[in-house]
Amino acid sequence: MKIITSVRKFCYLTESLKRHGKTIGFVPTMGYFHEGHLSLFRRARRENDVVVVSLFVNPAQFGVNEDFKQYPRNRKRDMRLCAQERVDYVFAPSITAMYPEGFQTYVEPGKLASGLCGKSRPGHFRGVATVVAKLFNLAQPTVVYLGQKDYQQCLIIRQLVADFDFQVQIKMCPIVREPSGLALSSRNTYLDEKGKQKALALVKAIRWFQARVKKGERDARLLKNGVRRILFKAGTRVDYVEILAARELSPFRKLSGKILLALAAYVPAGKRGGARNKVRLIDNCVMKIPKGGFI
Ligand code: PAJ
Repeated sequence: MKIITSVRKFCYLTESLKRHGKTIGFVPTMGYFHEGHLSLFRRARRENDVVVVSLFVNPAQFGVNEDFKQYPRNRKRDMRLCAQERVDYVFAPSITAMYPEGFQTYVEPGKLASGLCGKSRPGHFRGVATVVAKLFNLAQPTVVYLGQKDYQQCLIIRQLVADFDFQVQIKMCPIVREPSGLALSSRNTYLDEKGKQKALALVKAIRWFQARVKKGERDARLLKNGVRRILFKAGTRVDYVEILAARELSPFRKLSGKILLALAAYVPAGKRGGARNKVRLIDNCVMKIPKGGFI
């Protein structure tokens, strides 16, 4: 496995791979790997000649009061895991390599970024879309692997690919969870045992929602209130609970078609949560509602 930090060298490499007709499976990340990341590496490995992972904690996607400085990092362990998963190249640029002095052009996503995390984290998806556009230009991927864990991010990147004519395929991969059901996230490291217990409210709420919908409940307001109640009772503070059309992220009163339940909640973190002592976690599920019938 080779680690590349220079933008120019990375460009030479991907150009040469393309010239030799290789397919490039690309996984963009911010590091501190867990099984969720590894599942993407493995799928990229199965489906491509060459696997490229980028590791870059992108300052442009963190708000001023967010956890950019505190974001967990462990370069050595990350590299070891990449090597174990037979990743071929890790692109790990410095901040100044990606945003040299004078940098001033940003990618502004549209409607898909206006709700959910886009509302709670202004500027977040502008930072994501900008870095992803840069990474796609450099990595020249054939297929890009993204996690459903960040569902809205996937849709925004798909739209970016369509709007800017990137010749890449986006594959959205399933959420990897702990045996307890907690969705894996680099931010889970902020949680102590008590915090982890409370964080289970997210998956508990999702399961309750799935069961209600399977039984035939279609009233979005009622379902949202039920989900909120579970999150609140567990001692988390709800950021948002939304039930939306899964493709357009538009709201509706009565569920139909392919639907997304998306949640974000602040969980009291214990000591590791830093100064603000709360961790913002997200989770989601997608369901298909058959016309007129039950699931
Ligand atoms: P990061 O949070 O490191 O996530 C990298 C990829 O791993 C994303 O596609 C994310 O959806 C996926 N992922 C995270 N947790 C997962 C889980 N439990 N199961 C499956 N996949 C999971 O997302 C980012 O980095 C950044 O915003 C990035 C796209 C790299 C741009 O900076």
